[in-house]
Amino acid sequence: MAGPGCLQGHVVGRVAFVFAAYAQSFDDENPLNGLAVGERPDPDVPDGWTTVAVRATTLNHHDLWTLRGVGMRADQLPMILGCDAAGVTDDGTEVVVHSVISSPDWLGDETLDPKRSLLSERYPGTLAARVAVPRRNLVPKPAELSFEEAACLPTAWLTAYRMLFTQAQLRPGSTVLVQGAGGGVATALITLGAAAGLRVWVTSRDFAKAERALDLGAAAVFGSGERLPERVDAVMETVGAATWQHSIRSLRPGGTLVVSGATSGRVAETELARLFFLQLRVLGSTMGTRDELARLLAFCARTGVRPVIDRTLPLADAREGFAAMAEGNVFGKIVVLPSSG
Ligand SMILES: NC(=O)c1ccc[n+]([C@@H]2O[C@H](COP(=O)([O-])OP(=O)(O)OC[C@H]3O[C@@H](n4cnc5c(N)ncnc54)[C@H](OP(=O)(O)O)[C@@H]3O)[C@@H](O)[C@H]2O)c1
Repeated sequence: MAGPGCLQGHVVGRVAFVFAAYAQSFDDENPLNGLAVGERPDPDVPDGWTTVAVRATTLNHHDLWTLRGVGMRADQLPMILGCDAAGVTDDGTEVVVHSVISSPDWLGDETLDPKRSLLSERYPGTLAARVAVPRRNLVPKPAELSFEEAACLPTAWLTAYRMLFTQAQLRPGSTVLVQGAGGGVATALITLGAAAGLRVWVTSRDFAKAERALDLGAAAVFGSGERLPERVDAVMETVGAATWQHSIRSLRPGGTLVVSGATSGRVAETELARLFFLQLRVLGSTMGTRDELARLLAFCARTGVRPVIDRTLPLADAREGFAAMAEGNVFGKIVVLPSSG
C-alpha cells in the first residue's frame, strides 16, 4: 500500500485506492476523534460524472459538523470529507469544482433542489487525491488564480458572495455588519464587501483578529456584542446564537439580515415586534449556484482580490488544521494539498 509520500492513488488487485481524510465515526464533543487519514477505495464514477485530480482543497466548518454527526447517518460512514476542490481533469483542463450536487434532471438554481447535497454528504468529498463529480459541476479555473487560491472559493467564498450580492443585494456605499472576523466565510465577506465598495463593519471575540480585519478592508471593528455608532443596512450572520440578538438590534428600519450558519448555537430568541415594526427582512442563504461561482472566479481574476489563507498543509497533516478550526484558532482558509507528502 502506498503511504502519504505517494498520494495520487494506486491499485491493489482490481481495487484502486486514494489517500484521503475521512470521517470514520461521530463524536459531538471531540469531533477529531472520528477523523482518519489513510487510504479509501477510489470513488465510483456514475454516468455523466468524471474524476478530477485534486491539486488543492480546503477545510470548512462543514467538515467539523460531519465529524460531530450533524446531517449524517452512521450507515453513511466512512465518508471522505471536503467540499472544495481545484484540480485537473483527465484531459488536462484546470477546473474548480462546484460542490452542490443537484438531481440529474434539476434545472435552475441548484441550491433550491430539495434533493441536493454537498460533496462529502452523499458522495465522497474532496479531501482526497481524486474526487468524482458530475461534469456539469466543473467550472474553468482562471489562469490568474493558483490552485490554492481557487480551492478556497467554492464553499466559504461562494456562500459569502451569494449572501452579499444575491440575497442582501447590497450596493456600493451601503454599510454591512459582518459577525465574526477570522472564519472562512467572515474573511470572505470582509474582503468581497470591501472590494465591492461597501462600508464593512466587523465584530470579533478576539482583538488581534479584529485588527487583521482592518487590513482586509474593514472600515471599523468592534468587540462581539458591542453597540454600534449607527444602525446598518445589512448584517451577515454565521455565528448564530451568540450574536443573533446583536444582529437584529443592529439593523436600520427596512434592513436585511442574511444568515448562513450558526456555529455557536442554532436556537436564539427573536423579538418579533422589532421584526415587524422595523420591517426587517431575515433571509436564509446556502452555498451558491454554479453561475455565481463562475462570477466569483471572474471577480477575483479581474480585481486582484484573493482569498485569505491561514496556512497550507499536506493532506497527511490535515488533523492539525481541523484542530485549529475546532479551537477557533484560524484567520482565513486552511488549504490542504493532497499531492505533497
Ligand atoms: N449555509 C451554507 O452554505 C454555509 C456555507 C459555509 C459555512 N456555513 C456555516 O457558517 C459557519 C462559519 O463557517 P466557516 O467555515 O467560516 O467557519 P470557521 O472558519 O470555523 O469560522 C467561525 C467563525 O465564527 C466566529 N465565532 C465562532 N464562535 C463564536 C462565538 N461564540 N462568538 C462570536 N463569534 C464566534 C468566528 O469569529 P472570531 O473568531 O473572529 O470571533 C469565525 O468568524 C459554520 O457554522 C458553517 O457551517 C454555512
